[in-house]
Order: sequence, then structure tokens, then C-alpha cells
Amino acid sequence: MIIAVDGPAASGKGTLAAGLARHYGLPHLDTGLLYRAVGRAVLGLENAPDFEAQAIAAAQRLDPSDLDPAVLSSQALGNQASRVAVIAEVRAALYAFQRDFALQPGGAVLDGRDIGTRICPDADVKLFIVAEAWARTERRARQFEARGLSVDRQALHAQIEERDRRDRDNPNGGFFPAEDAHLLDTTRLDIEAALRAAVAIVDGAMARKAKQ
Ligand code: C5P
Repeated sequence: MIIAVDGPAASGKGTLAAGLARHYGLPHLDTGLLYRAVGRAVLGLENAPDFEAQAIAAAQRLDPSDLDPAVLSSQALGNQASRVAVIAEVRAALYAFQRDFALQPGGAVLDGRDIGTRICPDADVKLFIVAEAWARTERRARQFEARGLSVDRQALHAQIEERDRRDRDNPNGGFFPAEDAHLLDTTRLDIEAALRAAVAIVDGAMARKAKQ
């Protein structure tokens, strides 16, 4: 079974995807880490004339050992990731890794922006997670505060909005709900309630598929 989970920054998609993977005993790939790792490889080169070429080269030589969430989870790398994510050749270079992960025997859960539209248009179940911007800002702020970091909520909100805009407007991004995606609004749900809702969607979709 392949489960695709897409949504904007801090919508809860990563936590939900991890929870679904645990629930169904499937491996999980947070595809944002791929873009973050490429962004990290070209940090400081934003104004270099060969920024795009360097980002493409970094995507082509990406190694799974580069995908350490502890190294890649900062807000700055999220923003940097969205800059390299607009480059078509970067997306193309990262495609095979994601596709191979999805197609492993038994299936997988992948979360990102374009899983249901571009990486796994054939996924068994597609979830598109949404949450209002204020709730996403508050969640991200609490994650940073839990790590002992101080947070300027207004600046964080502005960064999240800017990243949303860049991702939405990315002509190569595929960031929109697939026609057959199930929308899940987590604005007023805690993580347990959101996971229960996601499991109900997946179980319902699989039961309908089994009847077909
Ligand atoms: O999900 P996360 O916030 O880690 O993603 C970082 C950035 O990587 C996103 O803002 C987006 O620009 C890019 N991304 C993407 N396609 C994906 C996953 C992430 O374009 N499948």
C-alpha cells in the first residue's frame, strides 16, 4: 500500500505520515529532507552565477546519509529548500530516489508537496493536509521552543507565508491537491485526533478499493 501525504509547511503532514507509517507498519520517507539537503549543499551560494548548476549537481550526487533530520530541520534550511525546489532539474534528479522508495515491496508512506500529483499519482490513498496559517505558525513556534530556541512569531509567520507562496507558485512543483486526494484540515485537531482522522480515511479508502 502506498500512502501519499502532501501539505504546506507545518501543516502536521510529517507527524501524520510518521504516525500512519507506524500504524500500518510501513517505511516512511519525508521528501522535504531531500530538498533541504540540496539546499544545505548550496548555502551561501544564492548569489553565485552558477547557483542553479551547483544545486543540480548536489541533487545528482545526493546520498541517503545526507538526510539527517537533526541537521536539516531549521527554518532557514526550509526556506533554502524551497529555493532549490523551483529548479526542474533538481526535482528530476530527486525523482528516482522517491519513486524507488515508494515502489519497495509492501509499500510506503511518503510526505511532501507533490507526492500525490507527480511522484505517486498511482498511490492507493492520497491525503492533502491543510491548516490555517496561524495554527501552523503556533505549532512550528512550539517545536522550536521545545528545543530551547527563542521564537519571533511574527517573523516566523512571515517566513511560513513566503515559503507557502513560493511553493504554490512553483511552476515545477505539482503542489496542489490531486483530484482523488482526501482533504484533512488539522487546524483544530491535536495530533492524536488528526491521526485518528487520517487512519479512518485510509481504512475507508482501502475498504472501498477492496470492493471494486
Ligand atoms: O516539507 P518541508 O518543509 O521539509 O519541505 C521543505 C521545502 O522543500 C518545501 O517548502 C518545498 O519547497 C520543498 N519540497 C518540494 N517537494 C516535496 C517536498 C519538499 O518542493 N515533495
